Amino acid sequence: DWTMKAFKAQEIAKVRAQVGSGRVICGLSGGVDSSVVAALLHEAIGDQLTCVFVDTGFMRSGEADQVVSLFRDRFNIKLVHKDASDLFLDKLAGLTDPEKKRKIIGATFIDVFEEEAKAVGGADFLAQGTLYPDVIESVSFTGGPSVTIKSHHNVGGLPERMNMKLVEPLRELFKDEVRELGRELGLPDDMVGRHPFPGPGLAIRIPGQPLTRENLDILRKADAVYLDEIRKAGLYDQIWQAFAVLLPVRTVGVMGDSRSYDYACALRAVTSTDGMTADFYPFDMAFIGRVANRIINEVKGINRVTYDVTSKPPGTIEWE
Ligand code: XMP
Repeated sequence: DWTMKAFKAQEIAKVRAQVGSGRVICGLSGGVDSSVVAALLHEAIGDQLTCVFVDTGFMRSGEADQVVSLFRDRFNIKLVHKDASDLFLDKLAGLTDPEKKRKIIGATFIDVFEEEAKAVGGADFLAQGTLYPDVIESVSFTGGPSVTIKSHHNVGGLPERMNMKLVEPLRELFKDEVRELGRELGLPDDMVGRHPFPGPGLAIRIPGQPLTRENLDILRKADAVYLDEIRKAGLYDQIWQAFAVLLPVRTVGVMGDSRSYDYACALRAVTSTDGMTADFYPFDMAFIGRVANRIINEVKGINRVTYDVTSKPPGTIEWE
C-alpha cells in the first residue's frame, strides 16, 4: 500500500534526523507494537539500536523463544534476553490486589530494564511502541472523567531517570495501521497479526490468588489449547483478542471413576478496533464445547470451563 510505504519512509527519515549518531534502546515485549518499532528502527539506524527483552515469565507458551529467534537470529538485531522470571515471582509473592500487582510488575520491569540497559553501555534514546489510543486513554477514558482505570505497564519515569529522550514512531497510529506498517517492514504475518497482549501478561489473568509457577503453567496450557482451536477453526484473524483466565475457585467434577476438585477457567474473546470498546465474540456453542473438552482433558488442574459474555463497557477486556 503506497500510503504506508510513504509513512514508513517518512518515519525512517524522522528517526534518523532525531537520533543522529546516537544510541537507541528499545524494549521488546514480543507484541506487535514493540516488534514494529524495533524493525523500523533497525531499518533506520542499524547497529545504533539495541533491543532489550525482559522475560517476565508471564508470556504465552513458546513466545519468549519466538522473540529471540525472530529478532536475534533472523533480523540480526542486537538483542539482550534477560530471564527475570524468578525475580518477578519473588516480588509478587502472596499478592492478589490487581493494582498492587500492576505497580510491582511495572517497577520491577523498570529496574531490570535499567540494569540491562546500563550493562550494554546505556543509550541516548529510548524507543517505545506508544500508539494513538494509548495517548488518548492515558489522558481520559473513553470520554469519561480522567481517572485511572488500570495502571498500564510501561517504562514511565525511566527516560528521565536514565537521561534518555523518547523515540515514539507509532504515536499517530491505530493498531491496524501498525500491522500494515509491520508488513511493510517485512515482519512475518503471524507476528504482525498477533493478538494484543498486555505487558504484565499472564500475571493479570490469574485474579484473586497469588501467582505461582504452578498456576501460571496451568493457565499457559489452557491458553495454548484455546488459541490452537481458534487457529484451527480459522477464526484467529476475526478476533481482536482471545485468552483464558484462571479463576480463583475450585469446583467438584467427575473424571472417570473419581471425584476431582480443580480450578475453573474462563475463556474470553472479543472483537474491537482499538481496544477502547469491545464486544464478546459470538462463537457457536459447539466450538466452545470442543475447547472445553480439550482443556479439561489436557490441562491437569482445570475441570470446568466457562465463557465470558461481557462487552466493554461495562467490562474491560482483561479481568484485572
Ligand atoms: P482493558 O482490559 O483495559 O484493556 O479493556 C484494553 C487493552 O489494553 C490491553 N492492556 C494492556 N496493555 N499493558 C499493556 O501494554 C497493560 O498493563 C495492559 N492492560 C491491558 C488489553 O490486553 C487490551 O488489549
